[in-house]
Amino acid sequence: MPSHPPKTFYLETFGCQMNVHDSEKVIGTLVSEGYRQVQTVEEAGLVLYNTCSIRDKAEQKVFNRLSDYKKYQKQGKKFAVLGCVAQQEGARIFERAPYVSMVCGSASYRNLPEMLVQIEAGNQRVTGLDDRETDKCFETEFTSRTNPHRGYITIIEGCDKFCSYCVVPFTRGKERSRTSDSVLAEARQMADLGYTEIQLLGQNVNSFKDPAGKHTFAELLAAVGQIEGIKRVRFTTSHPRDFGRDIVEAIDSVPTLCDHVHLPVQSGSNRVLDAMQRLYTREQYLERIAWMKAASREISITTDIIVGFPGETESDFQQTLSLLEQVEFDAVFGFKYSPRPNTPSLKLEDALPDEEKARRLAVVLEKQRDIQRRRYQRHLGQILEVMVEGRNDRHQQWTGRTTQNKVINFTGPEVSPGSYVPVVTTAAFPNSLAGQMVI
Ligand code: SAH
Ligand code: SF4
Ligand code: F3S
Repeated sequence: MPSHPPKTFYLETFGCQMNVHDSEKVIGTLVSEGYRQVQTVEEAGLVLYNTCSIRDKAEQKVFNRLSDYKKYQKQGKKFAVLGCVAQQEGARIFERAPYVSMVCGSASYRNLPEMLVQIEAGNQRVTGLDDRETDKCFETEFTSRTNPHRGYITIIEGCDKFCSYCVVPFTRGKERSRTSDSVLAEARQMADLGYTEIQLLGQNVNSFKDPAGKHTFAELLAAVGQIEGIKRVRFTTSHPRDFGRDIVEAIDSVPTLCDHVHLPVQSGSNRVLDAMQRLYTREQYLERIAWMKAASREISITTDIIVGFPGETESDFQQTLSLLEQVEFDAVFGFKYSPRPNTPSLKLEDALPDEEKARRLAVVLEKQRDIQRRRYQRHLGQILEVMVEGRNDRHQQWTGRTTQNKVINFTGPEVSPGSYVPVVTTAAFPNSLAGQMVI
């Protein structure tokens, strides 16, 4: 008898929403193969890490985790590395962490059942690694969604943009879209199961190109929003280059499409945008912002910023700050530039010391905090529709999200997660709102 009951697994996920959803596909596949998910490494026979490689810190986390758990190898546990670090490092992972017996990139999850058989047969080095050029379908037969009300659907995988700092085109492969028919079929199935919120996913979700030529991205959005039972549709992440006015028109005309667009800008300086190979200028970005601000609905706009890209001068940095002032985002995810394997910008000198990158990041975040403190105030007194997420016992309050994806904590009678309730906003903070349910 093995020292652990057979066929139990523990899975930890790092990285973006695409990885979170991929993990749901991996869990669905493992469960269909007779595995049972457990909540601790101790209980598991198979330990899987679904990894992220976007910045060096993210990658280091995986190797730290693996060395933390080295001791378990003696107990017969098997380790597997999935996701972006798996695809990037490939078989080198076996050298760095010899107790790992499976390395599998995101394009190969359909092959997991065969790979599991090999692991069970005692094979020490099982790989599922497809190169960038793969045309492989990224859907698995089974998906085990964790939230019963709100669920993800991947509509496009990979990236062909090759921004000069980014690993994603290498870890996720070339851009490939599903047909709009298959997306709509999955969305309808979810609506039948009681889901009311759907989030469409892609590294560049709005670069979606229906292989059957039936729908544009904006049309697909509208079609998902018109499915009976669906109350909210979100989509992430949009790339400015492919962000058409028709997306804003769809939001304006289909009430279920949420009032929120995440549109990463990265920098406010044209010189830096060019060096990043972002394929748009500050002016073109601002034009897209103007379309959104002219909409009849109030669309909340959020973004990503990289500070300290090679060659970013103080004046370039000031242009990023002025862009923040000009747009007034509702949230900013800021990152220090991190040189990554395979990427073109690796050849550029990463000249700024970490302290200077950290200073610039702190300035961005502080400025943005002021902007948000100001912006969140405008919700005071408004009655917002809130999807209830759960109870915050510490504060004796309910918590949920508005259509703009803002967190709101509120008081009121018993409500069930997944329901939609009206809440009047009574207080505003830089990152959340507070209110009272309207009864
Ligand atoms: N496809 C999306 C972004 C996906 S990656 C887009 O193009 O907008 C998520 C974010 O991570 C990026 O927007 C960027 O801000 C950040 N990022 C990516 N590579 C990075 C790197 N090498 N160093 C620091 N931040 C990085
Ligand atoms: Fe990375 Fe650029 Fe592709 Fe976004 S568009 S995933 S930042 S290469
Ligand atoms: Fe990370 Fe891969 Fe997502 S690198 S951000 S998990 S696409």
